Amino acid sequence: MSLVIFPFKQERPDVLIANVRKASRHARVSEVLGIGYENEETYRALETAAPAIAGETGAEINLALQRRIGSLRPGKGDAMNTGLDYFLASSHDRLHFYDADIVSFGEGWIDKAETAADRGYDVVRHYFPRARTDAMITWMITRTGFSLLWPDSELVHIEQPLGGELLLTRAAAKVLVDEPRVRAQSDWGIDTVYTFVLTRAGLPLAEVYIPEGKIHKLYGALSDLRTMLRECFAAVQSLRGLDIGSGYGHEIERPGPVPAAVASQNGYNLETTLRLLTENWTQGQEELLELFPGHVRDGLLEARTYPRFGYMDDETWYESYRILLDHFDPAGEDWAELLFKLWVARVLHYTANVALRGFDFSSRYLHDMVVAYAKRSARAG
Ligand code: DGY
Repeated sequence: MSLVIFPFKQERPDVLIANVRKASRHARVSEVLGIGYENEETYRALETAAPAIAGETGAEINLALQRRIGSLRPGKGDAMNTGLDYFLASSHDRLHFYDADIVSFGEGWIDKAETAADRGYDVVRHYFPRARTDAMITWMITRTGFSLLWPDSELVHIEQPLGGELLLTRAAAKVLVDEPRVRAQSDWGIDTVYTFVLTRAGLPLAEVYIPEGKIHKLYGALSDLRTMLRECFAAVQSLRGLDIGSGYGHEIERPGPVPAAVASQNGYNLETTLRLLTENWTQGQEELLELFPGHVRDGLLEARTYPRFGYMDDETWYESYRILLDHFDPAGEDWAELLFKLWVARVLHYTANVALRGFDFSSRYLHDMVVAYAKRSARAG
């Protein structure tokens, strides 16, 4: 039987409770566990609702607070690692993780993962159609970094390496619990490190496609993603130099039609984002820019007064990313802000030159981009 875990911080209690109810109705699920960051409103709302859901569905509904396991900012990583420990101490055969804020979550998500696991996969990842300007950390940071650093590996082809929706068997959970890097990664970098470590272990991996998409809360300005960006980049950088082996092939379910709501959606607010390039400049950032090619330095410096981003095409992003890998200091505030501005410029360039041309065009472009990066990096050696 399976355990479903929803890690959460502050979410809409009605969304979380509805998701717990849906998960607990599934015939394969005998327990649902909510892992909260702290005992706040969402936590208490689920606590209050739990007995009734258990009564209706016959599944056990439990709550736990995340434990302090890692050494970075206490965040999602601690919650997921708390979940892994809970799972391995239980008698369940399989563990599912789902983000707590998904409005489109349904029992079908569990079905798809269970069916793939029945066919022998130890790791099943869900992937979704996402708005063309959503997933900008996934594409510009994680997938780009994986292509640059491990161009011959399976990592290049994993659709959503930051996805928080996945199934693990006990063997897969054990691989993660035994890896000190995973234990240390208490922040947003957890998904990157899970993906890396599971891929390196060569466990059979399937990706299943969820056609309705992951409808969840989107962002206002890109500034909402600042901490996640910094932590996800630092996680990729921290893995640099590790050997992963070459591709072993994994199953990816073919994507189907994309719902109109996803195809037409914009992932962030353009107007408030433009201003971010002009704000929070320091002399330290200006000095760090000296490490970058002249057109990047001059372009970004001009953005102090006018939000320029025309220089940040895919080639320039590749070069800038390499420099970031060599020099970025995860503890440095100037570095964090400069990384953020470079990424904002990249996302704006992509939005203006690619995303505006439509959903299908953008999706092809992004897939081609990471494969081209991998080829270029493999050639460069
Ligand atoms: C990503 O890039 O995948 C993050 O979830 C932000 O959209």
